[in-house]
Amino acid sequence: MFVAFLLPATSAQASAPLREHAAARGKFIGAALATGPLSNETSYRNIATTEFSQVTAENAMKWDATEPSQGQFNFSGADAIVNFATQNNQQVHGHTLVWHSQTPGWVQGLGATAMRTAMQNHISQVVGRYASNATVVSWDVVNEVFDDNGNMRTSFWYNTLGQSYIADAFRAARAADSNARLCINDYNVEGINAKSTAMYNLVSSLRQQGVPVDCVGFQGHLAIQYGFPGDIQQNMQRFADLGVQVRVTELDIRMQMPRDTAKDTTQATYYRNVINACNAVTACAGVTIWGFTDKYSWVPDTFSGQGAALIYDENYQQKPSYTAVHDALAGGSSSDTTPPTTPGTPTSSSVTSNSATLTWTASTDSGGSGLAGYNVYREQGATDPQLGQSSTNSINLTGLTPNTQYQVYVRARDGAGNLSANSALATFTTQSGPVGGGCAAVGTVQNQWNNGYVVQPVTVTNSGSSAITGWTVTFTLPAGHTLAGSWNATLTTSGQTVTARNAGYNGNLAAGASTSFGFQVTRPSGDTQTPSGYTCA
Ligand code: XIL
Repeated sequence: MFVAFLLPATSAQASAPLREHAAARGKFIGAALATGPLSNETSYRNIATTEFSQVTAENAMKWDATEPSQGQFNFSGADAIVNFATQNNQQVHGHTLVWHSQTPGWVQGLGATAMRTAMQNHISQVVGRYASNATVVSWDVVNEVFDDNGNMRTSFWYNTLGQSYIADAFRAARAADSNARLCINDYNVEGINAKSTAMYNLVSSLRQQGVPVDCVGFQGHLAIQYGFPGDIQQNMQRFADLGVQVRVTELDIRMQMPRDTAKDTTQATYYRNVINACNAVTACAGVTIWGFTDKYSWVPDTFSGQGAALIYDENYQQKPSYTAVHDALAGGSSSDTTPPTTPGTPTSSSVTSNSATLTWTASTDSGGSGLAGYNVYREQGATDPQLGQSSTNSINLTGLTPNTQYQVYVRARDGAGNLSANSALATFTTQSGPVGGGCAAVGTVQNQWNNGYVVQPVTVTNSGSSAITGWTVTFTLPAGHTLAGSWNATLTTSGQTVTARNAGYNGNLAAGASTSFGFQVTRPSGDTQTPSGYTCA
């Protein structure tokens, strides 16, 4: 008793759980969860609940679990994870839709047309199941599409469908859930190298074509004997500069067994470095650890002679790596405890039935860590939900409820996670949505040349208050212009009037949801006209 009394509590044990420190920075800290221990072990459940604000299913959302035979869907494991997360106010990252591994033989044996259809159907069913579930916020749409040398992996997907399966998968995911963040995920892409550069070029080109890639996942399966990717922050930042969110999706840091104090210390440094890199990149949403206890880790089964890759040992005791993650999230002994100044009162503009723009006078930060961005909250009583985050002094809020009063305020945050006081409130009321279905279309010319142009995207939005199951967009081609091709819709022409009908996979739109299609046109040399008069029904 006496000895126990004299033992000092470590700072980690005495301090708040990881998720609390991460939240103060506007980031998540997550863990991959396995359904077995989640239903069988109280210690596992307790740590998962207390420490993490985000979860990924380690296996339960993979194709072999969700659609083991064609058209036979099984969501029991996936639902268990989602329900657990909902109960614990955690967000779920869906992992993974299209991958060469853990995909049943029936998929791999299909011919091209059937495989593309099966892929689109799988995405539509799996993403669609959780599209209106606020817990599931993001998806790994494609996983591990590259070889380590930066070539496309010659998986059965690539060999059967060519590279186009990637864009098709993202479009199908967007059609199934217009709000989810859609990610491309891979390993050995943490530093700047041939593989991460190939990924960078692919993401850049897909986005230029209007393919909805919103996010890049760096798995982060590291090993202390291979060294730390010292340019991880620089690498994340170059992706962030493309306009995507970045995240570390599967962090674990293995070692050659047996474990010892020196290896634990190196491992802790690696964990701290990864958290610090994410802290330093505004577009980094957070870090997911691939499990949390060495009792359940894929490492010993996969990398012979290696293990101890996580932040709790087999007996659920915190390791030095836990303290490193904790202190990096908490800001450690960081000298910056000065919060940014309070943002100005937000003003609302462009208020529609489901969106609004807020703008406020920027904060300044004098504590040393620098202004990192703003959190926008809705005033609702005991806990005010966060409506969004912005790195600038303006935000476009989407997904709002029609005909509803919103009282909102803004807090600034700095690089050390200090939050400013609340700004004064702004109050606005969304417009009442049209009753029943409604639909709007806007076409954007992406690229044009002397005798042709590409219109991409034509964004089709369900502007009504209830779901629609199909749409028809019409528009007019200038005289002498002819269609040369189209995608993600079926186009027919009558004179210069073009009628575009939804494809099989993008007709269902929830209220407020959007999808898109595109087309290419040939025109007389020197003519600079483009189509007009987009209407949607
Ligand atoms: C692993 C799981 O942890 C194991 O349980 C399973 O047997 C194999 O897959 N990259 C990924 C993850 O994207 O899905 C993998 O997860 C680890 C590597």
